Amino acid sequence: FTSRALDGVQLCITAGPTREAIDPVRYISNHSSGKMGYALATAAADAGARVTLISGPTQLACPERVTRIDVISAQEMYDAALAQMGDCQIFIGCAAVADYRPVSTASQKIKKHEEAMHIELVRNPDIVSAVASHSQRPFTVGFAAETQDVLNYAKGKLERKGLDLIVANDVSNSDIGFNSDENEVLVVTPEQVIPIPQMGKNQLARQLLKVIADAFKA
Ligand code: C5P
Repeated sequence: FTSRALDGVQLCITAGPTREAIDPVRYISNHSSGKMGYALATAAADAGARVTLISGPTQLACPERVTRIDVISAQEMYDAALAQMGDCQIFIGCAAVADYRPVSTASQKIKKHEEAMHIELVRNPDIVSAVASHSQRPFTVGFAAETQDVLNYAKGKLERKGLDLIVANDVSNSDIGFNSDENEVLVVTPEQVIPIPQMGKNQLARQLLKVIADAFKA
């Protein structure tokens, strides 16, 4: 990977989980650590890209030479991502966006009364799909975390979301993926499938960016 392969390229990455508020003290979220997205942001900045990292809540420090926009909810992440269109040549959707949010957020802490309670949920907007169908569409990359039939589900998502490239990983294996320091992926484009073997997320991020940079320039 030549050191300045992305010199001056404007690159935008979403990372981490989102939080969907139930009331002022409670939320729905997931176990995403943000490590993969932050590793990609670091590797992209090292390769000379101008990187904007749109991050949900994580424990991670902002990488050097990266501009971070902090968001909490999926809707905030969506708004921040779409606001980058026009200033973004490569978009990488690495965030674990919550699929649903509560229909409404209670303004006061909900009290316990009944033995059972129900929270009605509504679908969140799909950020990477909205980016891929934008008039100023960047080269758009998504991720697919799957527990079975990884390649077929990834190909389906690539097509349905209108992506240029999708990075698929098998999250049924706890040695890799969510919250782990290592990962192993299949890179899928409309033309080819490129396997990247298990390695640390930082090294994997550099390999992935090489593949993404090559496909972007092709
Ligand atoms: O459909 P699924 O959640 O498996 O797709 C994962 C890909 O879509 C990831 O790239 C993720 O960042 C993106 N995504 C998104 N907005 C959502 C849900 C997923 O950008 N609301």
